[in-house]
Amino acid sequence: MAGKEVPYKTMLSEKEMPTVWYNILPDLPTELPPPLHPVTREPCTPDDLAPIFPMALIMQEVSTEPEIEIPGPVLDVYRLYRPTPLHRAYRLEKELGTPARIYYKNESFSPPGSHKPNTAIAQAYFNKAEGIKGLITETGAGQWGSALSFGCKFFGLDLKVYMVKISYQQKPYRRTMMETWGATVVPSPTDTTEAGRNVLAEDPDCPGSLGIAISEAVEEAVGKKDTKYSLGSVLNHVCLHQTIVGLEAKAQMEKLGEYPDVVIGCVGGGSNYSGLVFPFMKDKFQGKEVRAIAAEPVVCPTLTKGKYEYDFGDEAGMAPLLKMYTLGHKFVPPPIHAGGLRYHGDAPILSLLVKEGYIDPVAYHQTPIFEAAVLFSRTEGLIAAPETAHAIKTAIDEALDAKEKGEERVILFNYSGHGLLDLKGYEDYLAGNLID
Ligand SMILES: Cc1ncc(COP(=O)(O)O)c(C=O)c1O
Repeated sequence: MAGKEVPYKTMLSEKEMPTVWYNILPDLPTELPPPLHPVTREPCTPDDLAPIFPMALIMQEVSTEPEIEIPGPVLDVYRLYRPTPLHRAYRLEKELGTPARIYYKNESFSPPGSHKPNTAIAQAYFNKAEGIKGLITETGAGQWGSALSFGCKFFGLDLKVYMVKISYQQKPYRRTMMETWGATVVPSPTDTTEAGRNVLAEDPDCPGSLGIAISEAVEEAVGKKDTKYSLGSVLNHVCLHQTIVGLEAKAQMEKLGEYPDVVIGCVGGGSNYSGLVFPFMKDKFQGKEVRAIAAEPVVCPTLTKGKYEYDFGDEAGMAPLLKMYTLGHKFVPPPIHAGGLRYHGDAPILSLLVKEGYIDPVAYHQTPIFEAAVLFSRTEGLIAAPETAHAIKTAIDEALDAKEKGEERVILFNYSGHGLLDLKGYEDYLAGNLID
């Protein structure tokens, strides 16, 4: 590839869009520990999960099929923004003076502005297909809530969103976005669920967390007929739906005759990361040399400092126990700007791959994160979500390391979302008011 002209953007036509998702489960090097029932601590059966999820998603959770077909109506909504472009970061490379070639997959291209609609659309479709009338969910930064609001609109489902209170206050326009697509949004913790009331009794000023908001959403969904719960990250079916990102990126890199030496993403619950990286993991399991790096915040260091053990997915202990890297389900991270990375656990599949040494985690403070994001905006033009900025920082560090070693490294990262509704973080950084 060296010396050959590469376009700024590599596109796929709508006809070239993948029509299946890649299921990593049958390829895993060791068996994935199953979710456990929160009361009996026995492995969950499909019936245990039926009050919260539709059967199609429960079956995807445990499927051993190597690929799962993407239904036509889902592909149809995907076509509003997919395939997304793969960019070559020429100006960033030049600014860094690196011989590395940096590529990023632009998932900010979706109408809500992140990768999250890839699963939101699919989840709305599978719920609708089983006669469900409405969904309830939680959201951290507001990206997931807005993605599901968007997805539900296309399949005629009602949606209620428990939004982590600190983000509800910091990101009022995300709320407006959700309401524009027809959703109802409340700040969590609320006093309308038992889970919320218990938290408020101990700490009336609690800024909220994803774990608490999940408890509230699950509690309400379980008690309502024709209503299910929806999760935007962590679970196997969510990671599955996101693999369209990596499948497209792979096809785009193939067009260029490129293959990444290193694949990078940020990790909250692990969905955008899994989406980009799992299709490359498939090659790694077969002996291909490709490194994978997962970036997270220092203040919520699940992969770098957490324990690999069974823990509840939510604060109140109502959701199934998952074997994952966790900081404990009672952990409430400080309110950093990357609200979507404030989750106490991680996807079980991703956790297993970190445990087995297939993926290397790194953690960063928010000042260097915003420094990297500002450099990116001043070279590539795009203003990244603070979550995404973790991937940018990691890619820059890799490019600088390649420079030091004089290596032509090929770097691919997931540009998981834009930050146009996250400008408070940029404002604080530019004014020198950011706290690490
Ligand atoms: C833009 C963006 N990137 C990444 C994340 C982290 O989530 P996940 O790890 O599930 O991709 C979020 C979560 O809200 C997000 O909004």
